[in-house]
Amino acid sequence: MIKAYAVNEPKGKLEPFEYDPGVLRDNEVEIDVKFCGVCHSDLSMMDNEWGFSQYPLVPGHEVVGTISSFGNNVNNLKVGDYVGLGWHSGYCMSCTSCMSGDHNLCSSAQATIVGHHGGFAEQVRAQAASVIKLPDNIDRESAGPLFCGGITVFNPLIQFGIKPTDKVGVIGIGGLGHMAVQFLNAWGCEVTAFTSSEKKKTEALKLGADQTLDSRNQSAIAGAAGQFDFIISTVNVKLDWNTYISTLKPKGRLHFVGATLEPLDIAAFSLIGAQRSVSGSPVGSPETISKMLDFAVQHNIKPVIEKYSFDKINEAIEKLRSGKAHYRIVLER
Ligand SMILES: NC(=O)c1ccc[n+]([C@@H]2O[C@H](COP(=O)([O-])OP(=O)(O)OC[C@H]3O[C@@H](n4cnc5c(N)ncnc54)[C@H](OP(=O)(O)O)[C@@H]3O)[C@@H](O)[C@H]2O)c1
Ligand SMILES: [Zn+2]
Ligand SMILES: [Zn+2]
Repeated sequence: MIKAYAVNEPKGKLEPFEYDPGVLRDNEVEIDVKFCGVCHSDLSMMDNEWGFSQYPLVPGHEVVGTISSFGNNVNNLKVGDYVGLGWHSGYCMSCTSCMSGDHNLCSSAQATIVGHHGGFAEQVRAQAASVIKLPDNIDRESAGPLFCGGITVFNPLIQFGIKPTDKVGVIGIGGLGHMAVQFLNAWGCEVTAFTSSEKKKTEALKLGADQTLDSRNQSAIAGAAGQFDFIISTVNVKLDWNTYISTLKPKGRLHFVGATLEPLDIAAFSLIGAQRSVSGSPVGSPETISKMLDFAVQHNIKPVIEKYSFDKINEAIEKLRSGKAHYRIVLER
C-alpha cells in the first residue's frame, strides 16, 4: 500500500489516504518521494476548477525523489537514482507527437494527478520515459518546481526561438513567473516583470528583471506600446489583454501558460495589422526538461522555495490559496 494525502471533494482538506498501486508495470518505476512542490494547478485540481477532477485525488506533480524499484523493461534508471517527475507520468510513445519528440503534446499522455495518484505521498509511480534523472550538481530540495512550473516557462523559449536580443515581459510573478524572470535574464533578454504586488517589484529586480510595471495599471502598460517581442502570461485571472497586445512589436507574441478560465476577448485587428500572435503551451517534453535542468545548473537558477513538512500539508495549501507563497512551496519528507 502507498501512503498518501488525498482530497475527497472540491475545497476539501487533504487527509491521509492509502492505495494499492498493484503490480509494477514493465515500463514503470516507483519513486520514493523526498520533496514535492505545490503548483497552482494542484489547487485548481483539488477544487475541480477545470471540471475533470476525480476523487479521491492525490495532488503533487513536482516530485523529487529516489528510484525504489523499476520494471523489467526499464534500463535507463536504477535503484537509488535521484530523479524528478512533473505533470506527465506517461506518454503513448506511438503518436505523431511522441514520435517527433513532442511528448508533452501527446493527446493520450497520462497526467500525474488526473486519474492517477500524484506525489503528495510516500511513493509515486510513473512510466520511466517521463522520469528524468537529476544532474549531479543540482540543488535537490529546490529542484521539484522545475519539473512543472520551470519547464512550463522554459519550453516556450525553445519553441519560439527567443533570442538574447529580445525584449520580453513576464506577467505574474508567482511560482511560474519568478522562474520565468530568472530563465529569461540568463537567456540574455531584457526582462520586464508585470506584477500586481508592490513588494514583488523590488524582488523581481533581484531575480533578474530590468524593470517592472503594475500588471493591473492600464495606463502604465499602455505607456509601453510597441516594445516587446514576447510576453508570457502566468496569471490565472483575466487582465486587459488588448492593452498587453498593444505593447507587442510587429510579429510579437503574447503567450499563455497561466490557466485563465475567462475567454480571451481580443480584437482581431490588433493581431492582423502588425502580424502579432497569441498562443499557449503545456509543460515540455522529457528532452526539453533535461535541457532546462542543465541550463539551470549552468546559470545557478533555483526556484525560491518555502519548505513545509508533509504533516503541515493543509497549512501549505492555505498559504498558496491566500496568494502569499514565496515563491514556491515545497513539501519535504
Ligand atoms: N501551461 C501549463 O502547462 C501550466 C503548468 C503549470 C501551471 N500552470 C498554470 O499557471 C498558472 C500559475 O501557476 P503558479 O503555480 O505560478 O501560480 P501562483 O504561484 O499562484 O502565481 C500566480 C500569480 O498570478 C498573479 N495573480 C494572481 N491573482 C491575480 C490578480 N487578481 N490580479 C493580478 N495578478 C494576479 C500573481 O502574481 P503577482 O503577485 O506578481 O501579481 C500570482 O503570484 C496557474 O493557472 C496554473 O494552473 C500552467
Ligand atoms: Zn503520444
Ligand atoms: Zn503544475
